[in-house]
Amino acid sequence: MRVQRFEQAAALASALAADLIGRIQRTPRLVIGLATGRTPMLLYRELRLKTAAQGVDWSLVHTLNLDEFVGAGAVGQRYRDFMQEELFAHVNLDERHIHFLDGRAADLGAECDRYERTIAELGGIDVQILGIGVNGHIGFNEPGIALHPRTHVARLELSTRARNTWLFDGAVERVPELALSMGIETIVDAREIVLLATGAEKAEAVQGMIEGPVTPTLPASVLQRHKSVTVMVDGDAAGRLSRR
Ligand code: F6R
Repeated sequence: MRVQRFEQAAALASALAADLIGRIQRTPRLVIGLATGRTPMLLYRELRLKTAAQGVDWSLVHTLNLDEFVGAGAVGQRYRDFMQEELFAHVNLDERHIHFLDGRAADLGAECDRYERTIAELGGIDVQILGIGVNGHIGFNEPGIALHPRTHVARLELSTRARNTWLFDGAVERVPELALSMGIETIVDAREIVLLATGAEKAEAVQGMIEGPVTPTLPASVLQRHKSVTVMVDGDAAGRLSRR
């Protein structure tokens, strides 16, 4: 794992946005895996600004988001809506190239299988952006005795639901208990992975992921097995690393 430290989260976001735009310019058909949540908001802001300033062409790019709440939309915001506001509405992505899990599908198992097929048909993910949960989850692969390899219906920990209340009028009981998520192997199959972590509340998970054992009780630790992972951290999230 390569660790890149930045003084400020804004500098991290700017560096990653510049890197992603360079990739799009070199590889117009880039397949990008995206994450939602608070961490990548600065990244999406930078992508909006740089796209406008440089006239970046996203028309051939494909995006695949990691996860989606089951049933959201009626009770709060879907991650799909979040992405629309944060990025999709501001770049010239082709609607048909925006790939999302549908948390309102009648058959959730079939929806997960469809997503795996879509990823395969696209030839896999070139670069996957990840955040990390305070409990070490990636996507919605929550800690457990075993991890789901492929896209699946995930039961969310209370701590995860509590951290997502900002999308559900601040009410934890409104945050769905279930979500759809790419599995651990789905994520690890990406050719490159960039994980972002900012803020002191991520420091323990970041340290465990990089310096601890590979264990399903800290799902992000499986990234140690991947040959091309970059962890981009701000000073606070790097605060517990032994080599600072
Ligand atoms: C969201 C996702 C999650 C988040 C994680 C951190 O698509 O995959 O794993 O990355 O929960 O969320 P924030 O950034 O809100 O702390």
